[in-house]
Amino acid sequence: MRILFSLLLSLTVFTFAAWANEDVPKQKFDYQSDVTRLRKIVINSLYSHRDVFLRELISNANDALEKLRLTSLTDKQVLSGAEHLNISIKAIPDKDGFGQLVITDTGIGMTPEELTKNLGTLAKSGTSEFLAKAENSDATGTGNLIGAFGLGFYSSFLVADHVRVASIAAKSEKNPNPQQYMFSSSADESSFEIYPDPRGNVLGRGTEITLFLKPDALEYLSTEKLEELIHKHSSFASTFPIYLLTQKSIEVPDEDAEKTETEAPIPSPSPESDETDEDEAIVEETIEEVKKEEEPKTKTVAVDEWVQLNKQPPIWMRDPKTVTDEEYELFYQVTFKDNTKPLAWYHFSGDSGSGVSFRAIIYVPSFVPESYWQAGIQGDAKDVRLMVKRVFITNDLGEDALPKWASWVKAVVDAEDLPLNVSRETLQSTKFLKQLKTIITKRLAQILGRVQEEEPEKFKEISAVYNNVFKLGAVEDSKSREKLAALARFSTNQRNSTSLDEYLENRKQGQKHIFYLADMGKDTAVLAKSVFIEKLHARGYEVLLLNDPLDEIFVQNIKKWKAVPFQDVAKAGLKFGDESPEEEKAELESFAEQFKPLLTWLKKEAGELVRDVIISNRLVLSSCAIVADAHGYTANVEKLMSSNTSQKKGFIYEYTKKLKYLEINPRSPLMEGLLRRVEQLPTEEEGRDLDAEDELHEVASVLIDGALVRSGFEVPDSNAFFTRVDRILRRSLGVSETAPTDTRVKPAPPVDPELPSEEELVEEEVPFPMPPQQPEQVKWEVEEIDDDDNLIADVKVETARHDEL
Ligand SMILES: *[C@@H]1O[C@H](CO)[C@@H](O)[C@H](O)[C@H]1NC(C)=O
Ligand SMILES: *[C@@H]1O[C@H](CO)[C@@H](O)[C@H](O)[C@H]1NC(C)=O
Ligand SMILES: *[C@@H]1O[C@H](CO)[C@@H](O)[C@H](O)[C@H]1NC(C)=O
Ligand SMILES: *[C@@H]1O[C@H](CO)[C@@H](O)[C@H](O)[C@H]1NC(C)=O
Repeated sequence: MRILFSLLLSLTVFTFAAWANEDVPKQKFDYQSDVTRLRKIVINSLYSHRDVFLRELISNANDALEKLRLTSLTDKQVLSGAEHLNISIKAIPDKDGFGQLVITDTGIGMTPEELTKNLGTLAKSGTSEFLAKAENSDATGTGNLIGAFGLGFYSSFLVADHVRVASIAAKSEKNPNPQQYMFSSSADESSFEIYPDPRGNVLGRGTEITLFLKPDALEYLSTEKLEELIHKHSSFASTFPIYLLTQKSIEVPDEDAEKTETEAPIPSPSPESDETDEDEAIVEETIEEVKKEEEPKTKTVAVDEWVQLNKQPPIWMRDPKTVTDEEYELFYQVTFKDNTKPLAWYHFSGDSGSGVSFRAIIYVPSFVPESYWQAGIQGDAKDVRLMVKRVFITNDLGEDALPKWASWVKAVVDAEDLPLNVSRETLQSTKFLKQLKTIITKRLAQILGRVQEEEPEKFKEISAVYNNVFKLGAVEDSKSREKLAALARFSTNQRNSTSLDEYLENRKQGQKHIFYLADMGKDTAVLAKSVFIEKLHARGYEVLLLNDPLDEIFVQNIKKWKAVPFQDVAKAGLKFGDESPEEEKAELESFAEQFKPLLTWLKKEAGELVRDVIISNRLVLSSCAIVADAHGYTANVEKLMSSNTSQKKGFIYEYTKKLKYLEINPRSPLMEGLLRRVEQLPTEEEGRDLDAEDELHEVASVLIDGALVRSGFEVPDSNAFFTRVDRILRRSLGVSETAPTDTRVKPAPPVDPELPSEEELVEEEVPFPMPPQQPEQVKWEVEEIDDDDNLIADVKVETARHDEL
């Protein structure tokens, strides 16, 4: 489909060149099917947010102007044709109450091919996913997506029945004699027309969009309404002047008093405005006075006047004290095309250290994009907009992109002292970008630290989104490590959220470690019941419960906090810090003496699996556990390692894997019982009891495998394990241990080399099990499309009943 379409495009381009300027046939094109879908989504789902059309069109105009300015850095002739770079907006009411809205920019403009391509197709990759997403989401979410995709042109059809776009490209070497062309389309058509503008090259350069407003959208003819909208949403969308054509009443000497009455002033398009009323009142007074004093008569006439709506300096140039929160939020939404509000921002000015002074605003968005955790380790932030003296230069920082952890940041930076004609390439040879990267990451860590201290509630919101980002940052960015690690929050066996500092405040006397238990993917409630923390928990020590893959990497990288080292409680050598070494040693020795036969026997049974069997100091309830050697792998690390397939699992890995101990709880009745049985086993001389040995062998094996599972490790052979469990269950149920299971099965039919027919392959559909929800809450929208993705019919099921599905 796509390929065919682009072939078609190149053919038509050829025909364009052959056209003469006047009296040409209108060329008709079909919209690409994705555009049809998109237009439909925009029109249906954004209907209650129709105002967005103006913001989108102004934003497009701004992009066209920025593109022109960038191009002019290398090619001066693109500037010819129209002197000023501006955006102008004009409402033209017509006699029968309808009207048009015209939005013009003097930007880069479009050739007829570009008109066809930009307005008739969606070139962006990922469009189909976007559409699928948009079709499934509610109206506000869609608004967000549309902005993000920069597909705002189609929002014109929210307010217009018919849209005409006239455009003439900037003069360039490739295109020395650009011609003005027209794109024309109606809201309900699946095609559009392209033809040379019959008015000729009246624009000079740029694009003019004429919206033939729908009867129910005539409010957009009111200059007050337009002014309000632009002030609200677009006054900071552009550093180029945005002009609105308004009408102003002025008084002029009345040379012909008779004539005044016939030449009534043209009424203002919106008579409700208070301002106009006041003006008129004043005018009347003046006229009365004039009459009294019998001076020369005057009359009021309405004159057109272009008013610049964004006269204020851009927000980042203003004194932060004079900028309201709402202005910061709106600026963010318009600049970064994100409908959500930022969580925090920081507005500052500074000096790069190499003599470049700059002003900047850094924003913390309300979400981290889905792609953040999927993309590679290299950050590729495209949302740091770099300007030089208000002129946008680039949002591509190249090699000096922010580190991965900070790549979600959105910022505008305006440098004063760089030459205005600096291009991206020359910019990269200056030190400034490198310094900028450092400045932004440092400031970011600073803002976050400040929010943490001053606004705990706000920090909770930030933490909910960025907690893992902070951990990643602490691992990745050694310069910001301290600051970022201090922001990270962890669950513990005692509370849901604690920082490392708060943990240390809760440290017990003598405690020389920050205890943690890591098992990725496990619920913290499950971790809290782990064998490894039984005693710690029972004695009232706090243990960090880490269940994210990043956590293990985090603790292994930062190693200590305020000089207190981390201790993995799943490893051997757990110390509480308040033991009296003599007493402890004496106690352990006496247990070791008492349990010696069991320890020796278990060690033989465990074989290769563990290095040794020892008396435990960490267990309270459980009978035994497998702990890793200080240099061995805990279950969590083993999981992390085995999820990395590129890891070479060589000799060292296999060796390290075996650095484990089996710890037994000497107070557990199970262990005491087992000890008795082992002691009762007859020795060689007395004549061995093979049956009793077998039974104990099985018990040991289940015990060890159970300890592995309980400690989070994989059982080496889960089949053998469950066969043994089976046998023990049979014993406890009094079923014969040797009775065979009926293993007869029906063999497969003979080989059939034919491929199955389509009917045979049709599978019965398994309905999706509906959640037990109120039927009113479930809403379905079904769309039928043909092979080319064109919409056939639109079935809307407002509420579907549970039992119908
Ligand atoms: C915008 O720029 C064009 C091209 O230079 C100019 O003709 C026009 O007067 C400007 N518009 C306003 C409102 O100043
Ligand atoms: C930029 O402008 C300055 C003076 O205006 C000039 O000396 C310099 O060569 C220009 N640089 C580029 C890359 O055009
Ligand atoms: C911790 O979280 C759990 C579940 O999320 C909740 O039930 C509990 O009340 C929370 N505890 C505290 C102290 O906030
Ligand atoms: C996998 O292991 C290799 C080799 O040790 C290492 O370079 C790579 O970073 C690891 N990948 C992940 C995702 O951990």
